[in-house]
Amino acid sequence: MLSTNQAARLLKQGEVVAIPTETVYGLAADATNQLAIQEIFSLKKRPTDNPLIIHIGSINQLDEFSKPLIEIELRIIKKFWPGPLTLVLPRKRNVPDAITAGLKTVAVRMPNHIKCLNLLQKTGPIVAPSANLSGTPSPSKVEHVLNDFGENFPILDGGDCTIGLESTVLTCRPNYPSATAQQSSFASRTFQSDMLIYRPGAISAEELSEFGSVEYYTPSQSKTDTSKTSTGSPSPGLKYRHYAPKAAVEWLSNVEQLKTLRYPVVVFLLDNTHPYTEFFADKAINDGHSLLCCEGSWERFGQLLYDTFRMADTKNYTRIFIQDIRRHNAKSSLKDALINRIEKAINGH
Ligand code: TXA
Ligand code: MG
Repeated sequence: MLSTNQAARLLKQGEVVAIPTETVYGLAADATNQLAIQEIFSLKKRPTDNPLIIHIGSINQLDEFSKPLIEIELRIIKKFWPGPLTLVLPRKRNVPDAITAGLKTVAVRMPNHIKCLNLLQKTGPIVAPSANLSGTPSPSKVEHVLNDFGENFPILDGGDCTIGLESTVLTCRPNYPSATAQQSSFASRTFQSDMLIYRPGAISAEELSEFGSVEYYTPSQSKTDTSKTSTGSPSPGLKYRHYAPKAAVEWLSNVEQLKTLRYPVVVFLLDNTHPYTEFFADKAINDGHSLLCCEGSWERFGQLLYDTFRMADTKNYTRIFIQDIRRHNAKSSLKDALINRIEKAINGH
């Protein structure tokens, strides 16, 4: 395990190092080092058309990458940074194409993690996608990173991630021409809202609505949308398989679903209210199953989701049942992000 100084030194030497953030662990490289950036893509086996987020430790580093901010961006940054919110901004020309995958925009965030912020003070801006192999669930614990990249992989240990889900990815300029002319098949689409969320995260649409109207980017909204093809998505990460374990994931809406199972399964619950109490009471059903209940804590549910996916695969469970939170009447800012990640896992995206 590295100290912050050692991690900073390695990054400045052009090495790739895993770093903690409040959302998930990142696979970091110096944002000015093209070779180190390429190494991230090859280590992760990440498609090169999927751009990276730049992580900064202070607001004045933004000018290096982004054109001047508009009022709404300034207000959002003031409220949510450091925090789990990534802003997609118009890029300056000097930003390496390896980071932006050739888009006209660049994604930036300031993580809310003390060790990471200390590191960023020493290194300057770093790029960091989630520190998992492409296609596996993002890492919320040190052991997840080591499982994907080997026991000796250099890592700055910052403990378990407090959120456990990737940041909200947002643009306040939904109609800014993100893509280059060659990629611009989606550019004809116009959005009416002030803000567009590409990826839901711990900063919710409701919290953002204080600053204007918000909508989610959904690839199916437009017949002309080409986001499933190799070019044309305003946020290329949307088109790749994500977050999914090998085990099949299903919503658990009725405990009857568990009564005829022939193999032990994983059951992941937010709480043990009705009808799940019935399941807890029935010892016969419990036998052999791996049962996790978050005692009604949405934070815990978020922290443990990817850990549960990974545990299922490590222990060779083939099915994971997750409490159907879609119609849960409790409110939580994490709800949309959790539903998004679980639905992606269910669909095997
Ligand atoms: O919480 C997080 O954001 C974590 C931690 C490590 O900071 N990072 C993370 O990075 O999740 P990654 O690379 O796994 O996901 C970045 C997402 C992708 O879906 C990518 O397509 C999108 O951000 N993205 C990056 N640059 C973009 C841009 N210029 N325009 C639109 N979307 C962009
Ligand atoms: Mg990722």
